[in-house]
Amino acid sequence: MDFTGAHILSINQFERSDIERIFEVADAMEPYALRRKATRVLEGAILGNMFFEPSTRTRVSFGAAFNLLGGEVRETTGFQNSAITKGESLYDTARVLSGYSDVICMRHPEEGSVSEFAAASRVPVLNGGDGSNEHPSQALLDLYTIRQELKDRNRGIDGLRIAMIGDLKHGRTVHSLCKLLCLFQNVQVTLVSPPELAMPEDIVEKLREAGHDVTVSEELTHSITHVDIAYSTRIQEERFKSKEEADLYRGRFRLNQAIYTQFCEPNTVIMHPLPRDSRADANELDNDLNQNPNLAIFRQADNGVLVRMALFALVLNVADQVDKYAHPVTWYSGR
Ligand code: CP
Repeated sequence: MDFTGAHILSINQFERSDIERIFEVADAMEPYALRRKATRVLEGAILGNMFFEPSTRTRVSFGAAFNLLGGEVRETTGFQNSAITKGESLYDTARVLSGYSDVICMRHPEEGSVSEFAAASRVPVLNGGDGSNEHPSQALLDLYTIRQELKDRNRGIDGLRIAMIGDLKHGRTVHSLCKLLCLFQNVQVTLVSPPELAMPEDIVEKLREAGHDVTVSEELTHSITHVDIAYSTRIQEERFKSKEEADLYRGRFRLNQAIYTQFCEPNTVIMHPLPRDSRADANELDNDLNQNPNLAIFRQADNGVLVRMALFALVLNVADQVDKYAHPVTWYSGR
């Protein structure tokens, strides 16, 4: 695809060569993300960061990524701080905010809302999550992490064995990740959830059409015995009618060190898009996994900066100029 000026709304818009290009640019961002160098390549550019649902990682890492490329960030968080509460439409909001920004990142609780916004925007829009639909930048950073974690094990994404665990019905990260895996070959996907929270059938069908081996299960331990990646997800309480309904499923698939030791291969990588629900009645990834070297969740979150820097650099057509505007870092960096 031609990245320049493109909206990034869905994994459906990518071919495999696009993913390889994003990862190539993300690799080149490492010295900047690690503060070994700084760059002013986006000096003068403005990111409009609009998050109408809670976010820690996506909002801050999109902002940090833009800052690390030398740009400025302006933010709106929550409907209560936006004129949308006064009845302003997404169309008007997009027309106005795209006049203030060079690129916009948006998260919104309704499926399709970010695409609707993008259709009215005068600048590229990146989907930071639209309801239960998609979270494309998360899937890209997840796959980038999988590639990084497996590269010293002589295993790659083709031939990957992955278990996705939890609320697969509402989890937009796993929806996007499944679509992304369809660009690769010979993947074994085990989908572990209660039947009521199963992966949408159209996505399962897409995996099968890609030639992947898909197994559906309600049982955790036997689903994680022969996988490269155990990818846990949170029960998406905000998508349920009530907390009580979400409580029916919370804590159903807990992974802790004892279960990992008993059932997983020694090098199985544990992933989670975060936030993990660490409350006692959920505890989907126990804190006793924190010292497990195969717990990749914080490396995964760190990789979000690299991948989001790459997306900005490609969409704003500066990927080949980042080094030209580089300068030394003058401050102390503890990394
Ligand atoms: N993974 C993710 O989307 O996290 P946030 O909700 O904190 O952005």
